[in-house]
Amino acid sequence: MEKPVVIVAIESSCDDTSSAVIVDGILRSNVIASQKVHEEYGGVVPELASRAHQQNILPVVDTALKRAGVTKEDISAIAFTRGPGLLGSLLVGTSFAKGLALALNVPLIDVNHLQGHVLAHFVEPSEELKAQQAMTIKHPDFPFLCLLVSGGNSQIVLVKAYNRMEIIGQTIDDAAGEAFDKCAKVLGLPYPGGPWIDKLAKLGDPNKYPFAKPNIAGYNYSFSGLKTSFLYTLRDMLKTHGVETIDELAERVPNLREDMCASLQATVVDILMRKLRKAAKDLGINQVAVAGGVSANSALRQAFIDHGAKYHWQVFIPPFSFTTDNAAMVCQAGYFKYLDHDFCAIDEVPFAKTTI
Ligand code: KG4
Repeated sequence: MEKPVVIVAIESSCDDTSSAVIVDGILRSNVIASQKVHEEYGGVVPELASRAHQQNILPVVDTALKRAGVTKEDISAIAFTRGPGLLGSLLVGTSFAKGLALALNVPLIDVNHLQGHVLAHFVEPSEELKAQQAMTIKHPDFPFLCLLVSGGNSQIVLVKAYNRMEIIGQTIDDAAGEAFDKCAKVLGLPYPGGPWIDKLAKLGDPNKYPFAKPNIAGYNYSFSGLKTSFLYTLRDMLKTHGVETIDELAERVPNLREDMCASLQATVVDILMRKLRKAAKDLGINQVAVAGGVSANSALRQAFIDHGAKYHWQVFIPPFSFTTDNAAMVCQAGYFKYLDHDFCAIDEVPFAKTTI
């Protein structure tokens, strides 16, 4: 009997340490250790992230192997996130992956984090995982468009094959998640702000505050103007009401935070969907997926469902556990590369910058 293909993946690009195992194309485990240490700083502190990865990585990988029911001797290859991300964080995962591959004498597979997010749509969880997390995953056909929105990226990716992707549009300044997080900080909400905006927006009026929308050519995005518009709206209101803090303002303006969040969220979703509609129309593609941390946003998910119905798109929305950083998507990308015998040299180094 042929030995099963066992891929172990390691993801450590930002502030989540994660490991996953795929056996013969089926995801058996996906373990994520999130780092709470950053909350009190209102953002990820790179040095603290690297240290937490060092503490987490061994138990996380060990748990992923145990949950998958495999041993080190069963492993066919080690996949790891090579970038983009925080260099210190990436170095922990990269070094660990290299050490493991060398010790076990198995191939090493480097994975682009962004391609991983896109390929999350091809993960095939085991029946056990599906039942545990009540998830179903639909797989798109090629070519399809993927809106990749996270804390560091906002891109429209034309996906021609597992290993052929082209960024056709991207942000020229802030990412959508960054806009959420920065505006949330201004409102005095905890980090990361995206989920808080989502929560409060449900109680607010999305039309209350008309924020600026960018006018950028092609399929590119811009969110810095929106951020400034958000800030200026608050600044003007503080002045009008003669107060200095957001808390004081919130006492005078009923539903302030809820309405600001709802209006911000509606604007971000409108900006994202407008360019996506244009790309889908121009390229004649009706299979459209969303990926990355911001794809957890309830208004964005609803916009995808609505666009599906209105524009006859087939839409692909990942389960919540595959929206934020996870090793399952890295493992899937690694599995595809393994099948292509696309391995990397032991001296490959991580990269920080955005590319696909
Ligand atoms: O992909 P991701 O986990 O990490 C990186 O960017 O590396 O994305 C994190 C981003 C953060 O900006 C966070 O605020 C945002 O995703 N996010 C959300 C929601 N959940 C996470 N933004 C809006 N609504 C949400 N429900």
